[in-house]
Amino acid sequence: ARTGPRTGNSRAAWQALRDEAMACTRCPLHGPATHTVFGEGPLDASLLFIGEQPGDQEDLAGRPFVGPAGHLFDAALAEAGVDRARAYVTNAVKHFKYEQRGKRRLHQTPDVPEIKACRWWLEQELDLIRPRIIVALGATAARALLGKPVTISQMRGRPIPLDDGAEAWITVHPSYLLRLPDPDRQAEEQARFVADLRMVGERLH
Ligand code: URA
Repeated sequence: ARTGPRTGNSRAAWQALRDEAMACTRCPLHGPATHTVFGEGPLDASLLFIGEQPGDQEDLAGRPFVGPAGHLFDAALAEAGVDRARAYVTNAVKHFKYEQRGKRRLHQTPDVPEIKACRWWLEQELDLIRPRIIVALGATAARALLGKPVTISQMRGRPIPLDDGAEAWITVHPSYLLRLPDPDRQAEEQARFVADLRMVGERLH
């Protein structure tokens, strides 16, 4: 249960947890990956974002959302008036899952056993940080958070109460926006993403 006072040792506990995650072998994805990409941000954050899994650049850098999806995410947050520096940002799955094609490493969606194996780490992060608002970016994150398959179009745009008193918000993943081929549709969907983030930002005040 995510109740009770936060201990003064949360930084040490988080560091220990992160160190442990660096050696994780709970699923096979640790083998080909360069880094475990653990979450980062203030441990007293009221807002926590969950992505899917690190991409190519995140795997190399060892940090979440620093590649193209991260740039789009940063721009959308700025437009929505939400300060990323005040949020904790993590992923449902902490290792990059990919298929090697020549020199390129192509993203593969994590499967349910991988999401379940990695959920242990996410639970630990949520227990430590105890955010008021948790935003799941995309279907993998939503599944990891709610423990069941989720249709984003049905669930977005409103708070979903969680058992511990926090609230979840579901929205699209920034990579989904990057993949939309039609620029008008992309602009439209991006505006909806920003609107979702703005609603979340307003709940924080
Ligand atoms: N996509 C994600 O879901 N997470 C990252 O950290 C980068 C890209």
